[in-house]
Amino acid sequence: MGPVNIGVVGLGTVGAGTVQVLQKNGVEISRRAGREIRVTHAAVRNLESRRACSLEDIELTVDAMSLVHNQDIDVVLELMGGCEHAYDIVISALRQKKHVVTANKALIATKGNEIFDEASKQGLVVAFEAAVAGGIPIIKAIRESFSGNKIENVEGILNGTCNYILSEISDRGCDYDEVLAVAQDLGYAETDPYFDVEGIDAAHKLTILASIAYGTHLNFESIHVEGISNITHADISYARELGYRVKHLGIARRQNDALDLRVHPCLLASDQILANVCGVMNAVKVNGDAVGETLFYGAGAGAGPTASAVVADLVDVVRTLTSDPFNRVPHLAFQPSELSSFAVTPIEDTVTAQYLRLTVVDKPGVLGDVTKILGDEGVSIRAISQKERHMDASAVPVVIVTHQVREGSLNRAIAEIESLAISVAPIVRIRLEE
Ligand code: HSE
Repeated sequence: MGPVNIGVVGLGTVGAGTVQVLQKNGVEISRRAGREIRVTHAAVRNLESRRACSLEDIELTVDAMSLVHNQDIDVVLELMGGCEHAYDIVISALRQKKHVVTANKALIATKGNEIFDEASKQGLVVAFEAAVAGGIPIIKAIRESFSGNKIENVEGILNGTCNYILSEISDRGCDYDEVLAVAQDLGYAETDPYFDVEGIDAAHKLTILASIAYGTHLNFESIHVEGISNITHADISYARELGYRVKHLGIARRQNDALDLRVHPCLLASDQILANVCGVMNAVKVNGDAVGETLFYGAGAGAGPTASAVVADLVDVVRTLTSDPFNRVPHLAFQPSELSSFAVTPIEDTVTAQYLRLTVVDKPGVLGDVTKILGDEGVSIRAISQKERHMDASAVPVVIVTHQVREGSLNRAIAEIESLAISVAPIVRIRLEE
């Protein structure tokens, strides 16, 4: 059969990385796909910018819609990021009968339901492996390799930038802004790093993982999201003294008839596997009732790893060009008519141990007041330590690790302690995952 022509929208880190991989490994890739895959067109914002790939034989344009309407293009790669324009490109490509590969987790997490409906209507595929955990083939694993399982938990380090920042602060005592700037330079961070450090990017990825794990419609809004911007070097050091590391996790757990879906920083015992995943690396643990615990580890961001996933999707799409549209792997793992709605556990009803750092006046009776309030809410203390006051400080840090506690009870205790005159700063809390 003849070659498959690709139009790439966006030649930034991921787009140029993908073209580079297709150019470098073209022969191997075609041997796998069964057809030659060639990038014939690319849409960019600036025709003059330098690219990290050869542009030989690629026609450049600033008009992304012209690719979508080009009859010679068979598959559109949406690698531009962002939501509004990307949505228009993807929907228009589907309406023009073109399969789509995208790395855009924000798009899939927030508009995926509409996109998959349109794709099913048109008998087309929208592939999105690169949207979650960069080069780790976690979507294929859950969607296809674990089809025989009831998935219990999916949890992991889903944002390379957060993991990189936490690792650098922990290991080298670096300054937060300095580390973030390096992550941006290395091409790990999103265009708007707020998405990384405030947990939005990880929540987009968890939304996708939860849907394919549990057979539900995508529901980004249901996830409880916290980022790492309030995690300080002090908290990381205190946690380390207690035998824990601080990691930013995405957690999806089946609990009776509801799902526990949350993204936030966590303390993990330093001998746990996820506690030892450092730098920009991602790792995802999946528990299935048949397979037991599995772990997937790899680079979660960067040109090469993301391109690896985009090209794998492209090969899958090329293989499906000749297959029956009604018998393809469903977008969200379960047949569209079988998707269900799960209740999501309110964050107040979740039960975890927690690390608390209080900043309190150093005077008699303070610890008594604090522990009384905790005790009255049924919060049991597992470890407590007060740091010595520095000469110039008016208050001291008190670090408390609780036993398992219902979040709502702890919230009431925290609010009451913060309302006391002895409390001079908001309490920092980090949940602890056993
Ligand atoms: N900004 C993302 C991260 C890139 O840091 O993990 C990959 O999604």
